[in-house]
Amino acid sequence: MKIYFIVCLAITSVLARDDGLVLTPPMGWLSWTRYACEIDCVKYPKSCINEDLYKEQADRLAADGFKELGYNYVNIDDCWSEMQRDGNKRLVADKKRFPNGIKALADYVHSKGLKLGIYGDVGPKTCAGYPSQNGVNGSNYFTIDAKTFAEWGVDSFKFDGCNEDPKHFDDLFPKMGKALNESGRQMVYICEWPLYQHFHNPPIAVNYEAVAKTCHVFRNFGDIADSWSSIESTINFYGDNYDMFSKYQGPGHFFDPDMIVVGDYGIAYHHARTQMAMWSMFSAPLYMSNDLRQLSAEDKKILQNKAIIAINQDKNAFMAKRISNSGGQQVWTKRVEPQVNGQWSYAVVYIDTNGIGDKRYISKKVSELAIDAKNGTQYTVYDLYLDDGKEVLATLKTTDSLELLVATGGGCRVTKLVPNK
Ligand SMILES: *[C@@H]1O[C@H](CO)[C@@H](O)[C@H](O)[C@H]1NC(C)=O
Ligand SMILES: *[C@@H]1O[C@H](CO)[C@@H](O)[C@H](O)[C@H]1NC(C)=O
Repeated sequence: MKIYFIVCLAITSVLARDDGLVLTPPMGWLSWTRYACEIDCVKYPKSCINEDLYKEQADRLAADGFKELGYNYVNIDDCWSEMQRDGNKRLVADKKRFPNGIKALADYVHSKGLKLGIYGDVGPKTCAGYPSQNGVNGSNYFTIDAKTFAEWGVDSFKFDGCNEDPKHFDDLFPKMGKALNESGRQMVYICEWPLYQHFHNPPIAVNYEAVAKTCHVFRNFGDIADSWSSIESTINFYGDNYDMFSKYQGPGHFFDPDMIVVGDYGIAYHHARTQMAMWSMFSAPLYMSNDLRQLSAEDKKILQNKAIIAINQDKNAFMAKRISNSGGQQVWTKRVEPQVNGQWSYAVVYIDTNGIGDKRYISKKVSELAIDAKNGTQYTVYDLYLDDGKEVLATLKTTDSLELLVATGGGCRVTKLVPNK
Protein backbone atom coordinates (compact mmCIF):
# COMPACT_ATOMS: atom_id res chain seq x y z
CA MET A 1 0.00 0.00 0.00
CA LYS A 2 2.77 2.47 0.91
CA ILE A 3 4.66 1.75 -2.29
CA TYR A 4 1.51 2.42 -4.25
CA PHE A 5 1.17 5.90 -2.78
CA ILE A 6 4.79 6.80 -3.49
CA VAL A 7 4.27 5.97 -7.17
CA CYS A 8 1.18 8.17 -7.21
CA LEU A 9 3.03 11.14 -5.77
CA ALA A 10 5.81 10.89 -8.32
CA ILE A 11 3.38 10.92 -11.25
CA THR A 12 1.38 13.80 -9.80
CA SER A 13 4.36 16.12 -9.44
CA VAL A 14 5.47 15.58 -13.05
CA LEU A 15 2.05 16.62 -14.30
CA ALA A 16 1.67 19.84 -12.33
CA ARG A 17 1.09 23.01 -14.34
CA ASP A 18 3.76 25.57 -13.77
CA ASP A 19 1.89 28.88 -13.98
CA GLY A 20 1.20 29.02 -10.25
CA LEU A 21 -2.50 29.75 -10.67
CA VAL A 22 -5.08 28.04 -8.40
CA LEU A 23 -2.71 25.74 -6.53
CA THR A 24 -5.72 24.82 -4.41
CA PRO A 25 -9.19 24.28 -5.91
CA PRO A 26 -10.85 27.51 -7.09
CA MET A 27 -13.94 28.58 -5.16
CA GLY A 28 -16.73 30.95 -6.03
CA TRP A 29 -20.03 31.15 -7.81
CA LEU A 30 -21.25 30.11 -11.28
CA SER A 31 -24.66 30.83 -12.74
CA TRP A 32 -25.57 27.77 -14.80
CA THR A 33 -27.42 25.21 -12.63
CA ARG A 34 -29.58 27.83 -10.95
CA TYR A 35 -30.16 30.33 -13.76
CA ALA A 36 -29.28 28.42 -16.95
CA CYS A 37 -30.17 30.55 -20.00
CA GLU A 38 -33.01 32.64 -18.59
CA ILE A 39 -32.87 35.82 -20.65
CA ASP A 40 -36.37 37.21 -20.00
CA CYS A 41 -35.48 40.03 -17.65
CA VAL A 42 -38.93 41.57 -17.88
CA LYS A 43 -40.67 38.52 -16.50
CA TYR A 44 -37.80 37.43 -14.22
CA PRO A 45 -35.89 40.56 -13.27
CA LYS A 46 -34.12 38.90 -10.32
CA SER A 47 -33.15 35.65 -11.98
CA CYS A 48 -32.19 36.38 -15.56
CA ILE A 49 -28.67 36.45 -17.00
CA ASN A 50 -27.76 40.12 -16.72
CA GLU A 51 -25.14 42.29 -15.09
CA ASP A 52 -27.23 42.84 -11.97
CA LEU A 53 -27.31 39.11 -11.25
CA TYR A 54 -23.50 38.90 -11.19
CA LYS A 55 -23.09 42.17 -9.32
CA GLU A 56 -25.57 41.17 -6.64
CA GLN A 57 -24.01 37.74 -6.15
CA ALA A 58 -20.60 39.46 -5.97
CA ASP A 59 -22.01 41.81 -3.32
CA ARG A 60 -23.09 38.84 -1.23
CA LEU A 61 -19.76 37.01 -1.65
CA ALA A 62 -17.98 40.13 -0.43
CA ALA A 63 -20.37 41.13 2.35
CA ASP A 64 -21.52 37.82 3.82
CA GLY A 65 -18.21 36.23 4.74
CA PHE A 66 -17.69 34.08 1.64
CA LYS A 67 -14.74 35.97 0.21
CA GLU A 68 -12.67 35.59 3.37
CA LEU A 69 -13.14 31.83 3.14
CA GLY A 70 -11.79 31.73 -0.41
CA TYR A 71 -14.96 32.00 -2.53
CA ASN A 72 -13.65 34.64 -4.91
CA TYR A 73 -14.67 33.81 -8.48
CA VAL A 74 -17.93 35.13 -9.97
CA ASN A 75 -18.38 33.15 -13.16
CA ILE A 76 -20.65 33.91 -16.09
CA ASP A 77 -21.94 30.92 -18.07
CA ASP A 78 -23.74 30.73 -21.45
CA CYS A 79 -26.05 33.38 -22.95
CA TRP A 80 -24.14 36.55 -22.11
CA SER A 81 -23.38 37.91 -25.59
CA GLU A 82 -25.07 39.53 -28.55
CA MET A 83 -25.89 37.13 -31.39
CA GLN A 84 -23.47 38.91 -33.73
CA ARG A 85 -19.83 39.91 -33.39
CA ASP A 86 -18.97 43.55 -34.01
CA GLY A 87 -17.27 45.02 -37.11
CA ASN A 88 -13.88 43.95 -35.72
CA LYS A 89 -15.11 40.39 -35.21
CA ARG A 90 -15.07 40.88 -31.46
CA LEU A 91 -17.67 39.44 -29.13
CA VAL A 92 -20.06 41.98 -27.62
CA ALA A 93 -22.04 41.53 -24.42
CA ASP A 94 -25.82 41.63 -24.81
CA LYS A 95 -26.59 45.34 -24.94
CA LYS A 96 -29.86 45.17 -23.03
CA ARG A 97 -28.78 42.77 -20.30
CA PHE A 98 -25.19 44.00 -19.91
CA PRO A 99 -25.59 47.67 -20.88
CA ASN A 100 -22.21 48.60 -19.40
CA GLY A 101 -20.32 45.72 -20.99
CA ILE A 102 -18.11 43.06 -19.46
CA LYS A 103 -15.19 45.38 -18.73
CA ALA A 104 -17.36 47.46 -16.39
CA LEU A 105 -18.67 44.30 -14.74
CA ALA A 106 -15.10 43.04 -14.26
CA ASP A 107 -14.13 46.39 -12.74
CA TYR A 108 -17.06 46.16 -10.35
CA VAL A 109 -16.23 42.59 -9.34
CA HIS A 110 -12.56 43.53 -8.88
CA SER A 111 -13.55 46.49 -6.72
CA LYS A 112 -15.08 43.95 -4.34
CA GLY A 113 -11.81 42.03 -4.19
CA LEU A 114 -13.22 39.26 -6.39
CA LYS A 115 -12.51 37.83 -9.84
CA LEU A 116 -14.68 37.45 -12.94
CA GLY A 117 -15.05 34.38 -15.14
CA ILE A 118 -16.61 34.11 -18.59
CA TYR A 119 -17.78 31.35 -20.93
CA GLY A 120 -17.31 30.12 -24.48
CA ASP A 121 -17.53 27.02 -26.64
CA VAL A 122 -15.18 25.23 -28.98
CA GLY A 123 -17.86 24.54 -31.61
CA PRO A 124 -19.49 26.89 -34.15
CA LYS A 125 -22.12 27.86 -31.53
CA THR A 126 -22.37 27.64 -27.74
CA CYS A 127 -24.70 25.04 -26.21
CA ALA A 128 -27.47 27.64 -26.12
CA GLY A 129 -26.77 28.84 -29.66
CA TYR A 130 -24.65 31.95 -29.02
CA PRO A 131 -21.50 32.96 -30.92
CA SER A 132 -18.50 30.92 -29.89
CA GLN A 133 -14.83 30.40 -30.57
CA ASN A 134 -15.66 28.07 -33.51
CA GLY A 135 -12.54 25.94 -33.38
CA VAL A 136 -12.48 23.92 -36.56
CA ASN A 137 -13.80 26.48 -39.00
CA GLY A 138 -12.86 29.73 -37.38
CA SER A 139 -9.77 29.23 -35.27
CA ASN A 140 -9.07 32.95 -35.67
CA TYR A 141 -11.50 33.60 -32.83
CA PHE A 142 -9.24 31.84 -30.34
CA THR A 143 -6.72 34.64 -30.41
CA ILE A 144 -9.11 37.53 -30.83
CA ASP A 145 -11.41 36.34 -28.05
CA ALA A 146 -8.58 35.55 -25.64
CA LYS A 147 -7.27 39.08 -26.24
CA THR A 148 -10.72 40.57 -25.75
CA PHE A 149 -11.24 38.71 -22.47
CA ALA A 150 -7.80 39.85 -21.31
CA GLU A 151 -8.61 43.46 -22.17
CA TRP A 152 -11.87 43.24 -20.29
CA GLY A 153 -10.02 42.00 -17.20
CA VAL A 154 -11.49 38.50 -17.18
CA ASP A 155 -9.84 36.07 -14.73
CA SER A 156 -11.29 32.71 -15.72
CA PHE A 157 -12.61 31.10 -18.88
CA LYS A 158 -14.92 28.09 -19.12
CA PHE A 159 -14.65 26.37 -22.51
CA ASP A 160 -17.60 24.15 -23.40
CA GLY A 161 -17.73 21.43 -26.05
CA CYS A 162 -21.17 21.66 -27.68
CA ASN A 163 -21.73 21.43 -31.42
CA GLU A 164 -18.29 20.06 -32.26
CA ASP A 165 -16.93 16.59 -32.91
CA PRO A 166 -14.98 15.70 -29.74
CA LYS A 167 -12.36 13.90 -31.79
CA HIS A 168 -10.96 17.39 -32.57
CA PHE A 169 -10.68 18.34 -28.89
CA ASP A 170 -7.14 17.03 -28.34
CA ASP A 171 -6.08 19.59 -30.92
CA LEU A 172 -8.47 22.47 -30.14
CA PHE A 173 -8.42 22.73 -26.34
CA PRO A 174 -4.62 23.12 -26.15
CA LYS A 175 -4.83 25.72 -28.95
CA MET A 176 -7.29 27.79 -26.95
CA GLY A 177 -5.09 27.31 -23.88
CA LYS A 178 -2.18 28.70 -25.88
CA ALA A 179 -4.25 31.69 -27.02
CA LEU A 180 -5.25 32.42 -23.42
CA ASN A 181 -1.64 32.18 -22.32
CA GLU A 182 -0.48 34.47 -25.14
CA SER A 183 -3.09 37.06 -24.20
CA GLY A 184 -0.73 37.91 -21.35
CA ARG A 185 -3.45 37.76 -18.69
CA GLN A 186 -3.59 34.79 -16.36
CA MET A 187 -6.97 33.10 -16.57
CA VAL A 188 -8.16 29.92 -14.92
CA TYR A 189 -8.86 27.59 -17.84
CA ILE A 190 -11.92 25.42 -17.20
CA CYS A 191 -12.30 22.69 -19.83
CA GLU A 192 -15.28 20.50 -20.69
CA TRP A 193 -12.94 18.49 -22.92
CA PRO A 194 -13.03 15.03 -21.26
CA LEU A 195 -16.78 15.19 -20.64
CA TYR A 196 -17.75 15.14 -24.32
CA GLN A 197 -15.19 12.49 -25.20
CA HIS A 198 -16.31 10.27 -22.34
CA PHE A 199 -19.98 10.48 -23.35
CA HIS A 200 -19.37 10.28 -27.09
CA ASN A 201 -20.85 7.24 -28.81
CA PRO A 202 -18.58 5.32 -29.05
CA PRO A 203 -16.52 6.85 -26.20
CA ILE A 204 -13.23 8.49 -27.19
CA ALA A 205 -10.23 7.64 -24.98
CA VAL A 206 -9.39 10.73 -22.94
CA ASN A 207 -5.76 11.82 -22.88
CA TYR A 208 -5.85 12.91 -19.24
CA GLU A 209 -2.16 13.67 -19.21
CA ALA A 210 -2.71 16.32 -21.88
CA VAL A 211 -5.89 17.54 -20.20
CA ALA A 212 -4.15 18.02 -16.85
CA LYS A 213 -1.25 19.84 -18.50
CA THR A 214 -3.57 22.15 -20.42
CA CYS A 215 -6.45 22.92 -18.08
CA HIS A 216 -6.67 24.05 -14.47
CA VAL A 217 -10.11 22.55 -14.09
CA PHE A 218 -11.71 19.78 -16.12
CA ARG A 219 -15.21 18.35 -16.22
CA ASN A 220 -15.55 14.70 -17.09
CA PHE A 221 -19.04 13.73 -15.93
CA GLY A 222 -22.56 14.92 -16.79
CA ASP A 223 -23.99 18.25 -15.63
CA ILE A 224 -24.96 18.31 -12.00
CA ALA A 225 -28.69 18.76 -11.38
CA ASP A 226 -30.41 20.07 -8.29
CA SER A 227 -31.21 16.58 -6.97
CA TRP A 228 -29.78 13.94 -4.66
CA SER A 229 -29.75 11.31 -7.42
CA SER A 230 -27.48 13.54 -9.50
CA ILE A 231 -25.15 14.11 -6.56
CA GLU A 232 -25.13 10.41 -5.73
CA SER A 233 -24.30 9.30 -9.28
CA THR A 234 -21.48 11.87 -9.41
CA ILE A 235 -20.05 10.56 -6.14
CA ASN A 236 -20.26 7.00 -7.46
CA PHE A 237 -18.55 7.95 -10.72
CA TYR A 238 -15.46 9.15 -8.85
CA GLY A 239 -15.60 6.21 -6.46
CA ASP A 240 -15.70 3.75 -9.37
CA ASN A 241 -12.91 5.46 -11.32
CA TYR A 242 -10.47 6.49 -8.58
CA ASP A 243 -7.58 4.43 -9.92
CA MET A 244 -7.91 5.93 -13.38
CA PHE A 245 -8.34 9.54 -12.23
CA SER A 246 -6.39 10.17 -9.04
CA LYS A 247 -2.98 10.40 -10.66
CA TYR A 248 -4.06 13.31 -12.86
CA GLN A 249 -5.27 15.42 -9.98
CA GLY A 250 -3.01 17.80 -8.07
CA PRO A 251 -2.22 21.45 -7.30
CA GLY A 252 -3.22 23.55 -10.32
CA HIS A 253 -5.20 20.82 -12.12
CA PHE A 254 -8.46 19.58 -10.68
CA PHE A 255 -11.28 17.25 -11.68
CA ASP A 256 -14.54 19.17 -11.58
CA PRO A 257 -17.66 17.24 -10.50
CA ASP A 258 -19.61 20.42 -11.35
CA MET A 259 -21.43 22.99 -9.25
CA ILE A 260 -22.48 23.00 -5.61
CA VAL A 261 -26.29 23.11 -5.42
CA VAL A 262 -26.54 23.77 -1.69
CA GLY A 263 -29.16 26.51 -1.28
CA ASP A 264 -31.28 25.46 -4.26
CA TYR A 265 -34.69 23.78 -4.34
CA GLY A 266 -34.09 20.09 -4.88
CA ILE A 267 -32.03 18.66 -2.03
CA ALA A 268 -32.56 18.11 1.67
CA TYR A 269 -30.35 19.33 4.48
CA HIS A 270 -28.51 16.00 4.79
CA HIS A 271 -27.82 15.93 1.04
CA ALA A 272 -26.45 19.46 1.16
CA ARG A 273 -24.02 18.41 3.86
CA THR A 274 -22.99 15.35 1.87
CA GLN A 275 -22.37 17.29 -1.33
CA MET A 276 -20.24 19.91 0.43
CA ALA A 277 -18.28 17.20 2.25
CA MET A 278 -17.67 15.02 -0.80
CA TRP A 279 -16.67 17.87 -3.13
CA SER A 280 -14.16 18.78 -0.44
CA MET A 281 -12.97 15.18 -0.25
CA PHE A 282 -12.43 15.25 -4.04
CA SER A 283 -10.37 18.48 -3.83
CA ALA A 284 -12.90 19.75 -6.36
CA PRO A 285 -13.61 23.36 -7.31
CA LEU A 286 -16.36 24.78 -5.11
CA TYR A 287 -18.50 26.80 -7.51
CA MET A 288 -21.84 27.47 -5.85
CA SER A 289 -24.80 27.86 -8.20
CA ASN A 290 -27.50 29.26 -5.96
CA ASP A 291 -29.01 32.57 -4.94
CA LEU A 292 -26.78 34.08 -2.29
CA ARG A 293 -29.42 36.80 -1.77
CA GLN A 294 -31.81 34.20 -0.40
CA LEU A 295 -29.70 31.68 1.43
CA SER A 296 -30.99 30.06 4.61
CA ALA A 297 -28.83 30.28 7.71
CA GLU A 298 -28.59 26.49 7.65
CA ASP A 299 -27.22 26.36 4.08
CA LYS A 300 -24.87 29.25 4.70
CA LYS A 301 -23.43 27.39 7.66
CA ILE A 302 -22.76 24.33 5.49
CA LEU A 303 -21.10 26.42 2.76
CA GLN A 304 -19.00 28.32 5.29
CA ASN A 305 -17.83 25.40 7.39
CA LYS A 306 -14.16 26.20 7.90
CA ALA A 307 -13.07 22.68 8.78
CA ILE A 308 -14.66 21.23 5.63
CA ILE A 309 -13.24 24.01 3.46
CA ALA A 310 -9.81 23.25 4.92
CA ILE A 311 -10.22 19.66 3.67
CA ASN A 312 -11.10 21.06 0.23
CA GLN A 313 -8.17 23.48 0.25
CA ASP A 314 -5.59 21.03 1.58
CA LYS A 315 -2.40 21.93 -0.28
CA ASN A 316 -1.75 18.38 -1.53
CA ALA A 317 -5.04 18.32 -3.48
CA PHE A 318 -5.44 14.56 -3.24
CA MET A 319 -8.66 12.88 -4.33
CA ALA A 320 -10.47 10.88 -1.70
CA LYS A 321 -10.54 7.12 -2.09
CA ARG A 322 -13.66 5.06 -1.47
CA ILE A 323 -12.38 2.21 0.64
CA SER A 324 -15.67 0.39 1.03
CA ASN A 325 -19.05 0.39 -0.65
CA SER A 326 -21.58 -2.22 0.34
CA GLY A 327 -25.13 -2.46 1.59
CA GLY A 328 -25.71 1.19 0.68
CA GLN A 329 -22.89 2.33 2.94
CA GLN A 330 -19.78 4.05 1.67
CA VAL A 331 -16.55 4.93 3.45
CA TRP A 332 -14.18 7.50 1.96
CA THR A 333 -10.77 8.57 3.19
CA LYS A 334 -8.33 11.30 2.12
CA ARG A 335 -4.83 12.11 3.31
CA VAL A 336 -4.57 15.68 4.57
CA GLU A 337 -2.31 17.90 6.63
CA PRO A 338 -1.04 18.02 9.29
CA GLN A 339 1.53 15.27 9.15
CA VAL A 340 2.71 14.25 12.59
CA ASN A 341 5.84 12.14 13.04
CA GLY A 342 5.73 11.28 9.36
CA GLN A 343 2.13 10.08 9.46
CA TRP A 344 -0.74 11.77 7.64
CA SER A 345 -3.98 13.02 9.06
CA TYR A 346 -7.09 11.67 7.34
CA ALA A 347 -10.43 13.18 6.46
CA VAL A 348 -13.07 10.46 6.57
CA VAL A 349 -16.64 10.48 5.26
CA TYR A 350 -19.27 7.86 5.99
CA ILE A 351 -22.36 7.95 3.73
CA ASP A 352 -25.52 5.87 4.02
CA THR A 353 -27.60 5.78 0.85
CA ASN A 354 -30.20 3.29 2.07
CA GLY A 355 -33.73 4.54 1.65
CA ILE A 356 -35.13 2.52 4.52
CA GLY A 357 -34.63 2.89 8.23
CA ASP A 358 -34.01 5.86 10.42
CA LYS A 359 -30.31 6.01 11.17
CA ARG A 360 -27.66 3.38 10.77
CA TYR A 361 -24.25 2.69 12.16
CA ILE A 362 -21.13 2.52 10.06
CA SER A 363 -17.98 1.16 11.64
CA LYS A 364 -14.40 0.89 10.36
CA LYS A 365 -11.09 0.05 11.96
CA VAL A 366 -8.82 3.07 12.34
CA SER A 367 -6.04 1.11 10.62
CA GLU A 368 -8.24 0.88 7.50
CA LEU A 369 -9.05 4.60 7.52
CA ALA A 370 -5.57 5.90 8.31
CA ILE A 371 -3.85 3.92 5.60
CA ASP A 372 -0.26 4.72 6.61
CA ALA A 373 -0.87 4.32 10.35
CA LYS A 374 1.89 2.66 12.36
CA ASN A 375 0.87 0.31 15.12
CA GLY A 376 0.57 2.09 18.42
CA THR A 377 -0.35 5.50 16.96
CA GLN A 378 -3.26 7.23 18.62
CA TYR A 379 -5.58 9.51 16.69
CA THR A 380 -7.71 12.38 17.91
CA VAL A 381 -11.00 12.26 16.00
CA TYR A 382 -12.85 15.52 15.23
CA ASP A 383 -16.43 15.80 13.98
CA LEU A 384 -16.24 18.42 11.22
CA TYR A 385 -19.92 19.35 11.11
CA LEU A 386 -19.96 20.05 14.83
CA ASP A 387 -18.69 23.42 15.96
CA ASP A 388 -16.61 23.96 12.79
CA GLY A 389 -14.57 20.85 13.48
CA LYS A 390 -13.42 21.79 16.96
CA GLU A 391 -15.47 19.02 18.56
CA VAL A 392 -13.35 16.08 19.70
CA LEU A 393 -15.31 12.85 19.29
CA ALA A 394 -12.79 10.33 20.54
CA THR A 395 -9.19 9.29 20.88
CA LEU A 396 -8.64 5.98 19.11
CA LYS A 397 -5.84 3.48 18.64
CA THR A 398 -5.23 1.86 15.25
CA THR A 399 -6.89 -1.33 16.47
CA ASP A 400 -10.03 0.56 17.58
CA SER A 401 -13.02 1.13 15.34
CA LEU A 402 -14.63 4.44 14.48
CA GLU A 403 -18.33 3.72 14.76
CA LEU A 404 -20.81 6.48 13.89
CA LEU A 405 -24.54 6.88 13.49
CA VAL A 406 -25.37 8.14 9.96
CA ALA A 407 -28.66 9.53 8.61
CA THR A 408 -30.02 7.20 5.91
CA GLY A 409 -31.04 8.24 2.41
CA GLY A 410 -27.88 10.20 1.65
CA GLY A 411 -26.73 11.55 4.99
CA CYS A 412 -23.11 11.59 6.05
CA ARG A 413 -20.69 11.94 8.93
CA VAL A 414 -17.45 13.78 8.37
CA THR A 415 -14.47 13.35 10.64
CA LYS A 416 -10.79 14.11 10.71
CA LEU A 417 -8.25 11.80 12.33
CA VAL A 418 -5.09 13.55 13.49
CA PRO A 419 -2.18 11.48 14.83
CA ASN A 420 -1.22 12.40 18.39
CA LYS A 421 2.38 13.53 19.00
C1 LIG B 1 -17.07 24.21 -41.61
O1 LIG B 1 -16.28 23.89 -42.71
C2 LIG B 1 -16.74 22.79 -43.46
C3 LIG B 1 -15.70 22.43 -44.50
O2 LIG B 1 -15.13 23.58 -45.04
C4 LIG B 1 -18.11 23.13 -44.04
O3 LIG B 1 -18.63 22.05 -44.75
C5 LIG B 1 -19.07 23.49 -42.90
O4 LIG B 1 -20.32 23.93 -43.40
C6 LIG B 1 -18.49 24.59 -42.03
N1 LIG B 1 -19.35 24.78 -40.86
C7 LIG B 1 -19.59 25.96 -40.32
C8 LIG B 1 -20.48 26.00 -39.15
O5 LIG B 1 -19.11 26.98 -40.78
C1 LIG C 1 2.05 31.14 -19.90
O1 LIG C 1 2.64 29.86 -19.71
C2 LIG C 1 3.88 29.88 -19.03
C3 LIG C 1 4.40 28.45 -19.02
O2 LIG C 1 3.49 27.61 -18.40
C4 LIG C 1 3.69 30.44 -17.65
O3 LIG C 1 4.92 30.50 -16.97
C5 LIG C 1 3.08 31.83 -17.74
O4 LIG C 1 2.79 32.32 -16.45
C6 LIG C 1 1.80 31.80 -18.58
N1 LIG C 1 1.31 33.14 -18.76
C7 LIG C 1 0.03 33.47 -18.64
C8 LIG C 1 -0.29 34.88 -18.88
O5 LIG C 1 -0.84 32.67 -18.34
